[in-house]
Amino acid sequence: MLNGKNVLLCVTGSIAAYKSSFIIRLLITSGASVKVIMTESAKGFITPLTLGTLSKNPVLTDFIKDEDAGIWNNHVDLGIWADLMLIAPATANTIAKMAKGEADSFLLATYLSAKCPVFVAPAMDRDMYLHGSTKDNLDLLSKRGDKIIESQFGELASGLIGEGRLSEPEEIIDSIVNELRSGKPLLGKRIMVTAGPTFEPIDPVRFIGNRSSGKMGFALAEAAYQAGAEVTLITGPTNQQAGDYIRRIDVETAEDMYQSCITQFQDMQAVIMSAAIADYRPANVSDQKIKKSEGPSSIELARTKDVLHYMGENKMGQILVGFAMETENGIEHAKNKLKKKNLDFIVYNSINEEGAGFQHDTNRVTIIGKDNKMTNFELKSKKEVAEDIINEILNYL
Ligand SMILES: Cc1cc2nc3c(=O)[nH]c(=O)nc-3n(C[C@H](O)[C@H](O)[C@H](O)COP(=O)(O)O)c2cc1C
Repeated sequence: MLNGKNVLLCVTGSIAAYKSSFIIRLLITSGASVKVIMTESAKGFITPLTLGTLSKNPVLTDFIKDEDAGIWNNHVDLGIWADLMLIAPATANTIAKMAKGEADSFLLATYLSAKCPVFVAPAMDRDMYLHGSTKDNLDLLSKRGDKIIESQFGELASGLIGEGRLSEPEEIIDSIVNELRSGKPLLGKRIMVTAGPTFEPIDPVRFIGNRSSGKMGFALAEAAYQAGAEVTLITGPTNQQAGDYIRRIDVETAEDMYQSCITQFQDMQAVIMSAAIADYRPANVSDQKIKKSEGPSSIELARTKDVLHYMGENKMGQILVGFAMETENGIEHAKNKLKKKNLDFIVYNSINEEGAGFQHDTNRVTIIGKDNKMTNFELKSKKEVAEDIINEILNYL
């Protein structure tokens, strides 16, 4: 959910400010870009050097960047840059000023300029937290739409035990992700996506494979997750990376893919089979590297198990989506496959076109429904194609 998002982390003068370094780490490993604003008093608790190094961006505190040159830090641009603002830890002082609409610090002016969702994680001593004015201020921020990440009960820096402790960094990130996911159309739905090629061994060093890069399947897994789904990605060998919010199962052969798919698919509400699974494998795999010999040689092939066919026959309410890629008579072949495999819809990949198909970052597809209704899409990035396919699934679900 945080992948590719611009996050503005605002750190204020609390003893819990050291936790902001862990928050930055978690944001970055979730794929976010992070910029940090610190209040003047926060610098007494953790150094800008630490947070600047971790966030890979200069830390901002003042309106003025270079007094002599008349250059200022633009809080308005920063407010526009941010997809999300997180104030953690948020002191009683900063919370009060936010509630009143004061703008006497760079942090407060940026807060007033931000149009994105704002998350506030208070941290303070128990009595400060329980004080009526702090409670009223937090209520007011919440009524205006800011999301409050409640403080936790526990040991406080003052030596007291009670409420007011900053939520742990992992809990803060979880709260944000859960909030961003709420209201997404695929929330509560489990979707399985297959990606990449399969490798069918000939001997310990050689295999039969294909040119699938896995890019389309990984883009589909990400798009399904962004739409709120719980995603299982079964992938053949590829160098694509998926966020750790996606449950990834790595396989190598068509047989591995078959076994993994049939184990998972009963639990799914939708299955998107975008992997390029081998139709044939060497009938016998040599234990030893096959030696070079004079004259031609041949490899006997055997059919692999047809996992799409299995799922089409055994599905119980799942939306089943297949892919087709042909060098000739593509649409006709795709329609036959749709029917034969009992799919809900099929995505035909155009391969005879510049920029489309295996290895490319773009693709041009035609979606053909059960009723043979065809929707042609333009050449688009695989991310956009993935969003179109997920939108089609939404129509079915
Ligand atoms: C050692 C120490 C720890 C503090 N911890 C907190 C705290 O956890 N929460 C809080 O609201 N204020 C805390 N304060 C008080 C704030 O630092 C003070 O109110 C300051 O003005 C906050 O400024 P800021 O909101 O601009 O960062 C602490 C002060 C000291 C000296």
